[in-house]
Amino acid sequence: MKILVTGGLGFIGSHTVVELQNEGFEVVIIDDLSNSSEAVLKGIVAITGKTPIFEKLDVREKEAVRSFFKKHNDVSGVIHFAASKAVGESVENPLLYYENNIASLIYLLQELSKQDKAHFIFSSSCTVYGQAEKMPITEDAPVQQPMSPYGNTKKIGEEIINDVAKVSSINAILLRYFNPIGSHPSAEIGELPIGVPQNLVPFITQTGFGLRQELAVFGDDYPTTDGTCIRDYIHVVDLAKAHVIALQRLLSKKNLEKVETFNLGTGTGSSVLEVIHSFEKVSNKKLPYKIVPRREGDITEAYANTDKANDVLGWKAQSTLDEAMASAWKWEQKIRG
Ligand code: WQD
Repeated sequence: MKILVTGGLGFIGSHTVVELQNEGFEVVIIDDLSNSSEAVLKGIVAITGKTPIFEKLDVREKEAVRSFFKKHNDVSGVIHFAASKAVGESVENPLLYYENNIASLIYLLQELSKQDKAHFIFSSSCTVYGQAEKMPITEDAPVQQPMSPYGNTKKIGEEIINDVAKVSSINAILLRYFNPIGSHPSAEIGELPIGVPQNLVPFITQTGFGLRQELAVFGDDYPTTDGTCIRDYIHVVDLAKAHVIALQRLLSKKNLEKVETFNLGTGTGSSVLEVIHSFEKVSNKKLPYKIVPRREGDITEAYANTDKANDVLGWKAQSTLDEAMASAWKWEQKIRG
């Protein structure tokens, strides 16, 4: 069975391709290489021994998407990762985000609605909850106006999918990620942030390696145990496995709701200081950091209620924060070594 993975050479995409291949799926990847490289393809093959079909393609080009589906008219399901994802950049350049994240979704859905049965998995984010009232966060927590255009593209994307699924042959699953971290245990693939990392864990591992002078901790005056923000850090391999299980659900189950939503997290919140301590424990290195003022747009706390994913998907994150951090550190040392 052939599965299209858009953005399949990206961080979460590449890890999902590995898990799809491990489950026997044939994978075709489209990626415009704006935030990845073909070297990632070698990493995937090094792990699974199987070479996915790869087509360099910009999903913002409607005609290119159309001719892709003409050529690959035997795609049984689509997992859609291709999107811009830097919160800060989206504030400075909203149109880039609305074009890249929304237009590409529309073109994909236009092609899928022509099929008599289409299965679609959408990479969404807990950012759609904004600062949720109640912890841990369930899927029926209200979707709020996200603080960034990036978050808004995820909220709008979910709304578009809901509207289209109602009147088409598309069955969809929306996966709301919490904070993906870590790398494949083989250290053949991992996170490759371009420029200065915006996210906490790659900044920590680059600082640990000496590429950055020190970590700036964005505020320690939040109403949390140690004053720093709390997030739910989930190992990227756990996240990748959830995508395969969700796809198998779409392909095998009957009478599903047209659109289902799942939170993908560990169910445990960790503060920034706890993440720093995790790094120090797994690396046996002291991490230089300083407390600076809060980052605009950051929420205080977000961690997942995982009951629905556990009970309905039959999926549960396996790795601890330390295990995920150890894999991130192993990867950092490998790529800088
Ligand atoms: C985590 C915590 C920061 C960097 C965003 C998106 C989410 C997903 C992941 C794409 C926060 C603190 C960070 C630093 C710090 N997007 N921090 N110093 O903002 O929770 O989530 O990225 O995949 O959709 O919303 O992740 O890693 O940027 O921040 O103190 O140098 O670490 O304040 O509390 P975030 P993050």
